[in-house]
Formats: sequence, structure tokens, C-alpha cells
Amino acid sequence: MISTPDNVRIVEVGPRDGLQNEPGTLRIDDRMDLIERLADSGLMHIEAGSFVSPRWIPQMADSDRVLQGLKRRHGVRYTALTPNLEGLRRARDAGVREVAVFAAASEAFSQKNINCGIDESLQRFAAVCEAAQQAGIAVRGYVSCAMGCPYQGPVPTTEVARVTAVLISMGCYEVSIGDTIGTGTPRQVQQVLERCMAKTDASQLAVHFHDTYGQALANILAALQLDIATVDSSVAGLGGCPYAEGASGNVSTEDVVYMLHGMGIETGIDLEALIQTGHWICERLQRHNLSRVGLASGAGTAEEESS
Ligand code: HMG
Ligand code: MG
Repeated sequence: MISTPDNVRIVEVGPRDGLQNEPGTLRIDDRMDLIERLADSGLMHIEAGSFVSPRWIPQMADSDRVLQGLKRRHGVRYTALTPNLEGLRRARDAGVREVAVFAAASEAFSQKNINCGIDESLQRFAAVCEAAQQAGIAVRGYVSCAMGCPYQGPVPTTEVARVTAVLISMGCYEVSIGDTIGTGTPRQVQQVLERCMAKTDASQLAVHFHDTYGQALANILAALQLDIATVDSSVAGLGGCPYAEGASGNVSTEDVVYMLHGMGIETGIDLEALIQTGHWICERLQRHNLSRVGLASGAGTAEEESS
């Protein structure tokens, strides 16, 4: 019998990580509607926007209007990405109570993503963490490219563990270990996580898998076996992978919840409501639903079913 946590906290990243990778830009009221529907389905932690440069990520422009206009549910955490102090200022002005800083374990990816190297990014994030702490804002951390990088290839596990520990030491309450390109496999995932756990407690780690190579659920199971109890995912598998044409992006929340509930692990999420939200957002975006569970439920739109 495999030992796994009794409860798992899902961090829904569709409204940010998902939408930022979609080709079109969703209307602001649809972005708010998506977040509210996700909260209605029982998700208690939702990444709702991003205070980055709109020139870099146009899909996340107007995140202030999204976060200000939301009907907030009691107890639900709405997070927004902040790459620097300017992002934190904008987030604070929009009433955000939790932000996320996003480092990488790959020097090349860090340069491409935020226009600076890993160590410089960590200096920026230290300033963000300090200012956030003073403002009573919680900070989550990310380490991208933990299983490989589209530009530099292999990424040393020691670097993943180092960057994770630095983010925790700055005051991040949790760090999400991201397989940004979805190339990781379960044994590798366990090696990376074990390396991180030599410096950082499992309770301060989350996992963030992309399903590009169909490994995401297996990788999540591998993480659960190490007592990791926080999983990022995206409704309908929103978000593509710019490095593999036609490939899926973030693992779909519906598929993760189906697996967890099937294993007797509680999430507090109403799977049926989540499936409906997955179909709804796919219709809005005119895109395929990448959730296998969503498709199997047979409740999609005529357009989805014929595609
Ligand atoms: P830069 O061009 O080096 O910045 O960008 P800069 O300081 O030279 O400023 C250039 C311009 O951007 C200036 O405006 C600044 O005011 C403005 P101008 O004077 O030219 O009009 N600017 C800003 N505007 C709005 N909000 C801000 C901000 N900061 C500066 N916060 C920067 C540096 C970090 C801003 C840029 O590279 C950027 O926005 N990058 C974000 C890219 C991004 O969001 N990538 C996706 C994140 S997803 C990820 O990392 C992976 C993850 O999802 C996990 C996974 O999937 O594995 C987390
Ligand atoms: Mg992602």
C-alpha cells in the first residue's frame, strides 16, 4: 500500500498560468467570471492574475481590474504574480493579499523570462518579500525549469534545491517546484524533491507539472508518495506549451481531482461543478478541452464534441 496525504490543497493556476499562454485575450468580465466559478466549485486557492509588464504578457494586462472587481469568497486566497517592486506596488493597490515571485533553476530561462539572471532575480525577490512582509502580504515562490530547460537542457538538482531554500529564507511560505516544459518522469521528480527536502520541509513544497509528455499525473503521484500535499493545476488544462507544438500545458485540475478522489484523498472540490467550468471556459476561448475527465464526462459543447 502506497502512503499518501489524506488531504491535498489544489492551487488553481488557470486564470493566470493558463490564460497567459492562450493565444487570445479574454475579456475582463470573463476573467472574473472564471475565477468566481472556480471558487464556487470549492477551490480555495486561485492564481488570479499577474502584475508583470503588459508588453511581455498582454493576456495579463488589467489584472488590477480583475482583482479589484472580483466577488471574493470568504477563506479563498487570490494570488497574483509580481516580478519586482513595481509589480508589488500594483498588486497592493489592487487589494491583493498574496503575491507570488517566480525564480528559475535555469540561468537561460531566467534571462528569457524576466530579463535577468537567477541571482539578480533573487535580489529583486528579496526586496519584494521584505516590502510584502511590511504590508502584511503573503508571498509564494516558484522555481521553474526544475526538471529541464527548453534553452539549456539539463538543470542541476542542486540548483533547484538552492533556489528553493533561498526563496524560503526570504520569507516565502511555500515554493512550487515547476516542471515548466513537462519533460520530467517520476523517478527524476522524486530525486529533485528529495534534494529539495534535504533543505526544505515537505510542508513548504508544492508541485507544478505540465503534461506535455503525458507524465503529469504519474509525477504528481510520485510527489504525493514523498508527502507533498500541495498541487498546482489548471482547469481544462488551460495554457499551452510554447516549446512543443500541439502539446498540452498545465495538468488539468479535473484530472488531478478525479485521481485524488479516486484514491480517497480529499480536496474539498465539487468535481462536477469544476467539469462544467472547464467546458464553459473552453467555449469562451473557442479551444479544445484538454481535460481527459472533462471530455469523458460527455458534457461538452457541440463544438468541443465534434472537434
Ligand atoms: P524589463 O524590460 O527588463 O524591465 O522587464 P525594466 O525594469 O527595464 O522596465 C521596462 C518597462 O517595463 C518599463 O516601462 C517599466 O516601467 C515596465 P517603460 O518605461 O518602458 O514604459 N515594468 C512594469 N510594468 C508593469 N508591471 C511591472 C513592471 N516592471 C517593469 N511589474 C520584467 C522585466 C520582469 C518587468 C519583464 O521581464 C516581465 O514582465 N516579465 C514577466 C514574464 C512573465 O510573466 N512570464 C511568465 C511567468 S510564468 C513562469 O515564470 C513559470 C511559472 O508559471 C511556473 C511554470 O509554469 O513552470 C511560474
Ligand atoms: Mg505552468
